[in-house]
Amino acid sequence: MIRSADTAGSAGRTAAVRSLSLEQKVRLLSGAAQFALAGEPSIGLEPIVLSDGPTGVRGEVVVGGRQSCLLPNASLLAQTWDEAALTEVGDILAEEAIDQRTHVVLGPTINLHRSPLGGRLFEAFSEDPLLTARLASSYVAGLQQRGIGASLKHFLGNESETERTTVDVRMDEETMREVYLAPFEMVLADANPWTLMASYNLVNGTSATEHHELLQTIAKDQWGYDGVVVSDWFAVSRTVESVTAGLDLVMPGPDTPWSRELVERVHDGVVAEAHLDDHLERLLLLAERTGALGAPRAWSEQVPAPTSAQRREQLTRLAASGMVVLRNEDQVLPLPVDGEGAIALIGRHATDTIVQGGGSARVREPYAVSIADGLAETLGEDRLLVVDGVETRQTLPVAPPELVSHPLTGEQGIRVRALDADGEVLHDGRLEVAELEDSRTGWLEHAYTIELSAAIQVPEPRDVQLGVRGPGEWSISAPSLKETVTIPFHDGPGGGFFRPRSHARTVRVSPGDVLTARTTRTSLARILGLVVSPARRASASVLTEATTAAARAELAVVVVGLTPDQETEGQDKTTLRLPGDQDALVAAVAATAKRTVVVVNAATPVLMPWEDQVDAILIAGMPGQEAGRAVAAALTGEVLPEGRLVTTYPRHDGQGPAWSTTPSDGVLTYAEGRHVGYRGWIRDEERPAHWFGEGLGYARWSWRDPRVTGRDELSRPQSVEVTVENTGAHSGIETVQVYVEPADPQLPTRLVGWARVEVAPGETVTAEVMCEPRMLRSWNRDEQAWDPLVEGRVLVGRHSGDLRPVL
Ligand code: BGC
Repeated sequence: MIRSADTAGSAGRTAAVRSLSLEQKVRLLSGAAQFALAGEPSIGLEPIVLSDGPTGVRGEVVVGGRQSCLLPNASLLAQTWDEAALTEVGDILAEEAIDQRTHVVLGPTINLHRSPLGGRLFEAFSEDPLLTARLASSYVAGLQQRGIGASLKHFLGNESETERTTVDVRMDEETMREVYLAPFEMVLADANPWTLMASYNLVNGTSATEHHELLQTIAKDQWGYDGVVVSDWFAVSRTVESVTAGLDLVMPGPDTPWSRELVERVHDGVVAEAHLDDHLERLLLLAERTGALGAPRAWSEQVPAPTSAQRREQLTRLAASGMVVLRNEDQVLPLPVDGEGAIALIGRHATDTIVQGGGSARVREPYAVSIADGLAETLGEDRLLVVDGVETRQTLPVAPPELVSHPLTGEQGIRVRALDADGEVLHDGRLEVAELEDSRTGWLEHAYTIELSAAIQVPEPRDVQLGVRGPGEWSISAPSLKETVTIPFHDGPGGGFFRPRSHARTVRVSPGDVLTARTTRTSLARILGLVVSPARRASASVLTEATTAAARAELAVVVVGLTPDQETEGQDKTTLRLPGDQDALVAAVAATAKRTVVVVNAATPVLMPWEDQVDAILIAGMPGQEAGRAVAAALTGEVLPEGRLVTTYPRHDGQGPAWSTTPSDGVLTYAEGRHVGYRGWIRDEERPAHWFGEGLGYARWSWRDPRVTGRDELSRPQSVEVTVENTGAHSGIETVQVYVEPADPQLPTRLVGWARVEVAPGETVTAEVMCEPRMLRSWNRDEQAWDPLVEGRVLVGRHSGDLRPVL
């Protein structure tokens, strides 16, 4: 037997691998569960625990697990353009992971914002490879310096969700190297994330998990990657092709194609055992790095609770500092904290604030501060006239815990019973949340029927929407409701998990009425829940109420946004229009109010047809658990909302270099090539609504004397300086952006560096921007090598649509 101390170091790992039987090896190369790997006592290997990522550490269950910090979404964090902020994010996530004894966090997501329709863009940083790479490297460093592994995902070509498990993403070699591989290359080189996740899709005809050229040749051989390449969940369907392509680990387990076949394939000589040994050595290195092998990990560090004052300060600051001021006529913002006069706060998102997107990134947050609560705390409840807005959701969410209680004990949450085919009760318990994962494990294993029930907590009789969420055959009953319904599964893998549909009816309920819903088991995993939601409101009466309040107030704040119907894993958007009648609501308020401020509670571009009619616009993203406090801090300037856009906002649907995410005959061609995002907008000389890099903040700026202060031996720019003066009345952080426009018109203009400088009113500073050499090269297909980008103009600007040459 090998003692754990002997496994340390490369020789130790090799010896440990040699000591294992083929069966032991194969067992270790598939997950042992949804989010855990197997241990192996004979070599002192502890089970490694994984958790999604990337916005919080959700834990080992999909819903209803532990409460943990819900951070601002990735594109909101990216809008800070602040590497230090992302290191802090990594550090917070590491502490959350330590608290949950989790070794690896499945993030960051670094797919690019190619088309604004991508449903999962909220999880990813930006449309630019360099900005994405630098922020992701900082995130990874923050995590890994605390001994928690990151997982860089999804490698490669997972920019959209439509047909995501089967789509064949086609791109030319130059585009692949210069745009889509570039962030992976830079983060692997600069931060060495200990795992890399291969995506669901195909790339140029080959499944990403079977892509020898990507996994083995490029990542491992050319870039020297020494970490573990893990499959996305359920992505592997073929054993020989994936195990020999450079994929190291199949998730989840224990039942996977590898666990079923690999022993035999090695025995019959189709797969060389050396492949397995390489995968295992990498796995043991990961174990050593995360403390699952070798010196045992103490897990004894004291970390701040998700509800602590420290987290509250951090999460408020991180969210608010990424918010983008896109318009601010007559300096209506920042709002004075001690101002006078009523403020009409209008919009469904003011009270039903969207704090996170849908899908595997979901976290069970300890609390979520709505924008109405945050503004009431900062500006005073008496000053606010809160008006609920028009309907925004197509799919109703499950009941918030405070609206439901166990029908017998009265404790918050719902009652869940599992019954066998004869109606005998196998399990009777309480859930703290109104949903559960039905995955045929634990006490659900032998259930035939699942019954969810709850007493409804309303203060007085009222109309409420009652129903269920999740696919299956349901029978639903309440005092004034009895029905059976079938909610279909979404097509494809994960169809029971992503964007589950709901069914509800509006009925009159009295306090304590009990809602019961039963569903029979299916063979497919799914998320099930009870819906208790306020009755729907007719838009006409909302508009009347809103304009009446707006007329009475000094200022109207209208909060609009998207919901997890649009911003979710597993599905793309079809339009950038705000759902429901929100555009009409803004226009009506703007026509009535003295001044109108719009807060956009969405992570990715939306259309703002009312833009010229309003005084100010704040892009607030999906701000996490401190949402309301962060919006209040940004609107009042308590935290400077110095965010800059990370994605270009089109003026109308269909505009821009890449729009459709719908494959044609299973193929999605990246026809815009290297001209993704602002690079394409610049080439096409089209004007978007807002450019990548845009953001006003509250200061005013004057720039002087941009100059190239350093060049490399090929005369490529290394450093650029600009003298920056704050001519406004408020402090600010200016983001000086440097781009290069290559002389070759085939090559796009690209961001090569930026610097953030904090400047007090009336002061002048010098901003120094270091240029990234890996953005100053182009791929030479014939030579299979990089050519330096020597000829071109250096440009500086406040954003990608405002570039001036440095003479
Ligand atoms: C997602 C991954 C995630 C995994 C585990 C997949 O559906 O694409 O990003 O880490 O599930 O939940």
